[in-house]
Amino acid sequence: MNKAEILEKLSDFRENDIPWREGRLWSYVYYLDKETEEIGKLAYMEYLTENGIDATAFSSLQKMENEVIHFCREILRGDEQVVGTLTTGGTESILLAVKTARDRAKAMNPAQTEFEMILPETVHAAFYKAAHYFGVKAITVKVDDDSLKATAALIEPHINKNTILIAASAMSYAYGVVDEIKSIGQIALRHNVLFHVDGCIGAFILATSREGGYEIEDFDFTIPGVTSISMDLHKYAYCPKGASVLLFKNDEIRKFQLFVCNEWTGYTFANTGILSSKTGGPVAAAWAVTNFIGRKKYSKIAVKTLEVAQTIRKKLEAHPDIKMITDPKYSLLSFTTPNLNIYALSDELKSRKWYAGLQFKHRHIPANIHLTVAGHHFNNYEVFITDLFDAIEKVKKENLPLIEMDLSQLKPEDVPAILKNLGVGDELPANLATVNQLLEKLPKEISKELLIGFMQGLYK
Ligand SMILES: Cc1ncc(COP(=O)(O)O)c(C=O)c1O
Repeated sequence: MNKAEILEKLSDFRENDIPWREGRLWSYVYYLDKETEEIGKLAYMEYLTENGIDATAFSSLQKMENEVIHFCREILRGDEQVVGTLTTGGTESILLAVKTARDRAKAMNPAQTEFEMILPETVHAAFYKAAHYFGVKAITVKVDDDSLKATAALIEPHINKNTILIAASAMSYAYGVVDEIKSIGQIALRHNVLFHVDGCIGAFILATSREGGYEIEDFDFTIPGVTSISMDLHKYAYCPKGASVLLFKNDEIRKFQLFVCNEWTGYTFANTGILSSKTGGPVAAAWAVTNFIGRKKYSKIAVKTLEVAQTIRKKLEAHPDIKMITDPKYSLLSFTTPNLNIYALSDELKSRKWYAGLQFKHRHIPANIHLTVAGHHFNNYEVFITDLFDAIEKVKKENLPLIEMDLSQLKPEDVPAILKNLGVGDELPANLATVNQLLEKLPKEISKELLIGFMQGLYK
């Protein structure tokens, strides 16, 4: 293929993607404007081929990374002791926070063989990935039934001699609330346990909106007991993907994040992150975009985002068929429709080219739809609301019944027949209402198997 054909093909591949620039995607993408996108892309391409493997060969990347870390440290009100690493994303930041806690515990007490971390039920899935990868037992604890916040009282009874880490969110992805960081910090101090605040999605917008005069709850390095914070730049800092920071209170703790290997026969192997070779693009792009936008403009963007989100919230709350899940004060909103088939509503939105993530029922919290409000929604949220209200009327009229079957006792061998009945083969049906209800109702072990089978089918 020649260059023109390749470019045309690349564009064609996008045919079925959700048009995110138009703000039709309510998660995954953070887009501000063309100019910021261009700066990020230029900087990224400028350093595409440089390799983040070795700070001595590419001091440019090391210098930019340090500058970005210092910028983030100031935003999170950390002192000069606070150190950090630019990682490839929120998941890597969380993986490294957990690995650090485990390796520190091992070093402090070589006899310890069991490692536990306390996870409020609303923390991001990346903590479970970390538990799985690093052999740390996840102790899941309930959040408060009403506020859906993690609290010290619900966490403290689970602390024991194996506890290496407590996690909490600022904000939690699913429900958009800030956990009770201050009081959790107190118990972390009392029991001498590390405390990670996952600010992957929330820290940047919370901190910068506070700088813009918005009232927010405390969550940063000024809170005693907080020992590390993750904060993604590829979310509300509008940097290209591949940029998150993991900051530690001091280098005594960060020491256990680093990995060196002198057992092999090649070059000196010393890494801050999980990957070795990696493009310098995200580092240069994060440096460029954060400098291009700057703190003052970031605070304006953050305040505007919260204002837009709260306007959306008010409009949703005024609709008789919509109920918000808890009290989302910031930019992440989730709502349910108590008298309406929300699974069908999610499909109806998709058929109108809106992608708003469906979140399954959890304990007393009904299935709900999640909206991450960001820059690309400033000019289109009213269109979304009109379409959403219209979709609600359509779903009401169709009145598809909810699946009421009890599937909790289903055996794995029954599943293929059920899937066949539902028309699920290698490809998912366009209408996912039934499949989603099934996934929600199946025993977790079976739905995991199903999802793995589905992924196997996707990537052949
Ligand atoms: C609270 C929280 N933590 C962690 C992550 C993981 O971030 P990433 O997708 O960059 O790995 C997310 C992503 O949305 C998140 O919302």
